[in-house]
Amino acid sequence: MSFEQKNNENKTKKFDFDELEKELAFTDYENNAAAAGNEKSLNEKPLNEKPLNEKPLNEKPLNEKPLNEMLSNGDYENNDQAYGIVTAGVEPIEMTPTGSKIIGYVTADQRETVRLGTYVIIPYENENLFGKITKLQYRPEFSSDDATEIHTQRMLAKKGARINENDYKLLTSIDPICILYEKNKKGGLQRRMADRIPKPNTPILPVLDKEKVQVGLNIPEEGIFLGHLSVGGELVKTHQMPPTVAYYLRNDYVSGDPLIFRHMLVCGSTGTGKTFLTKNILRQFEADDNRYRLRSDPKLKSPPCLVIMDPQDEYSQLYEDSKVTEADQFSFDSEKIAYGGFQNTKTFVAKVEGENYAGKSKADQMEFTIPFAFVKKNPWILETAGLPDNQKNGLELLVEDYFKRAANKNNPSTYLGFKAFIEDPDNRDYYTEQTKKIHEASYDGIVRKVLNKEYGRVFDQDAKPITELYKTLFAPGQISVFPTEYINSSRIRDLIVLVMMTVIVNNKLNTSGNADIKNTPIILVLDEAHRYLSNAEGVMSGKIISKFAEAAKQGRKEGLGLFLITQDPQDIETEILKQINTKIVLNLNNDAAINAVKIPKDYEKRVPYLKKGQMIIHSPDNGDIVEITGLNSCVVKHE
Ligand SMILES: Nc1ncnc2c1ncn2[C@@H]1O[C@H](COP(=O)(O)OP(=O)(O)OP(=O)(O)O)[C@@H](O)[C@H]1O
Ligand SMILES: [Mg+2]
Repeated sequence: MSFEQKNNENKTKKFDFDELEKELAFTDYENNAAAAGNEKSLNEKPLNEKPLNEKPLNEKPLNEKPLNEMLSNGDYENNDQAYGIVTAGVEPIEMTPTGSKIIGYVTADQRETVRLGTYVIIPYENENLFGKITKLQYRPEFSSDDATEIHTQRMLAKKGARINENDYKLLTSIDPICILYEKNKKGGLQRRMADRIPKPNTPILPVLDKEKVQVGLNIPEEGIFLGHLSVGGELVKTHQMPPTVAYYLRNDYVSGDPLIFRHMLVCGSTGTGKTFLTKNILRQFEADDNRYRLRSDPKLKSPPCLVIMDPQDEYSQLYEDSKVTEADQFSFDSEKIAYGGFQNTKTFVAKVEGENYAGKSKADQMEFTIPFAFVKKNPWILETAGLPDNQKNGLELLVEDYFKRAANKNNPSTYLGFKAFIEDPDNRDYYTEQTKKIHEASYDGIVRKVLNKEYGRVFDQDAKPITELYKTLFAPGQISVFPTEYINSSRIRDLIVLVMMTVIVNNKLNTSGNADIKNTPIILVLDEAHRYLSNAEGVMSGKIISKFAEAAKQGRKEGLGLFLITQDPQDIETEILKQINTKIVLNLNNDAAINAVKIPKDYEKRVPYLKKGQMIIHSPDNGDIVEITGLNSCVVKHE
C-alpha cells in the first residue's frame, strides 16, 4: 500500500486528521504577510519568506496512524487538550539507559499553559509514557534574522501582541519518568522504567487522571497529608473531584514502615510558614484511626504521642479550632485531612522561679520540675553554656564525684549542694593541685559558666518531678506541648529542651527504659532544631548529638520519630541530617542552607523563589521529588 493510499484510508476514520493538520499547518502565508506588514528593508527578509532548506513538517503525513488510533487507551477524549506532538524533525528521538531526548512541538494555543516541570502523558497503543517538561525553546519557523535594529524598533512600536505564534516553533524536551501500564484488569495501574520510545507525531497530553499522577510519581494514595502537588506554584488539576492531587506521606507497614519513624525535617527562612505547615501536618498524626505498631507487642497498635518543644508558644493552639469554610471542609473530608482542634492537647510547664506562664490556649496545663538527681546520669544537660571539651570532661568528673562522695540518703542531691561542692576550696585544691585531674583554668571556667545562678531557679522546684510523670507526659494519643518562651534565660530554656530530649532518647534506647516511654510511639518535634543538634564545636554536648544520631538510627524499630524544624539546616550535625528521610524545603534564601539540604540541582534553583506555602519534598522512600503547595488555611488555630 502506498503512502497515498494509506493516507486516503485514514481519512475515512472517525477522527478528522485533516482538520488538525490544517490547524498545525502553516498554510496561512497570506495572513503572515499581512501580520508582518509589507515593509521591506535592505537588511530584513520578511519573516515569512519561504525557508530554503525547510519543508513544512506536515507537508505529508509520514507513515502514520491517525491520532485516535494511537489513543486506544482512554486518553482520546483529551486530544483536543494536547499540548502538541512528539517530533523527530528537529532532533532524533532517543532513549538510552542514562538519558533520553524526546522533543515535542507545542501548538500555538497551548503555549501559555506549558511550563517547566509540567507533567505529561505520551500514549503508546496500550500504555502511557509519563514524563515531565524539562526544557522549552522558541525557534523561528522560517530562517530569518530578527536580531536587527529595524525589526526591534518595529516590534517596540507595536501595541499588543508582538509575535505571531505561527512564525515560531515552541519546542519542548520531555524527560520520561516511567511507563504506566495496567497489569491486568484488577491489578490497577503499575509503573516501570521508561523502556519504550514514543512514536513521532504522538500527542503530548496533560495528565488529567489522579491515579496516573500518583502512580507516575510513585507517591502513596493515602497516608499523612502534606499538601497538594503543584508545578511552579500552580496546583496540578485533574478531572476528578476535588481536582487537586493530594501528596501523602507513607504511613503504613505494607510497603515499609511509616516514614515518620525515618524522620522529617521542615526548613525555611523565618516567616516562610514553617509553624503553620507543621501544625497542619502534626494534626494528621492524631487523626482518629492513626495507630502505630510497637516492637514490644507487634499485635498492639497505639496512637502516637506528639512531644513538642515550643520556643514561641504556638503549639498549644493545636487544642483549638480554626475557622474553615464549607468548601475547605468538603475538600478536607474528601481528601481525608484531619482538621479541628485536638482535645487531648496538654501544656506542660516547667516551674521556674520568678517566671510565669500565661498560657496561649485553653488546653490543660500542668507544672513539673527537674530534679537535680537527673544530672547524675546526664551531666551534659549542664553543658548548654558552650563549654570547651576540657571543661566538659572536668564537669562530668565533678558531677560523678559529687553523687559518689557528697550526696547520700541523708543529704539528698540538690543544685545548691553541687554548687557548694565545687566551690569548696578543699575540693578545688584536690582536683587542681593534689590530683591534677582538672586544670586550674578549666576548673574556674566550669565554676563560672556552669554554676550560673540561673540554674538555681530551675532544679527541684515546688512541682512534681518530671521523673514521676512519664505516664502523664507520654500518654498515647496525646499532644504534649512544652512551651519555653515564658522563660527569660536562654540557658534555662535550652536546659529544659535538652532534658526532654534526653528523657525520650535514653528511655527509648535502653532495653531497661521506662515502659511508658518505650511502649508509646513518640514523635518528638523540635522547633529551632539547629540549637540543639548543632554541628559547631562546643555548642552542645557531643554526647547528646551522638545519642541523637543513634536514636535516629533506631527510631524505626523503637517507634521514635523526629520532626525537626529549622531555618538553619546547615547548622545541624550531618550525622543526624543523613538519617532524615523526608525533607520539606520551604523558601530558603542563603546558599549554605540550600546546599545543606542536599536536593537535586534543578530543584535547588527553585528554592529561593518558593512562595509562602510552596515547598519541595524530597522523600526518596515515599516517591519522586516534587513540588507541593500546603493548605492555605490552618486546620487548627494559628495566630
Ligand atoms: N500556606 C499559608 N497560607 C497562608 N498563610 C500562611 C501560610 N503559611 C504561613 N502563613 C502565614 O504566614 C505567617 C508566618 O507563618 P509561620 O508563623 O508559620 O512562619 P515561620 O516560618 O514559622 O516563622 P518563624 O521563623 O518566625 O518561626 C503567619 O501569619 C501565617 O499565618
Ligand atoms: Mg515558627
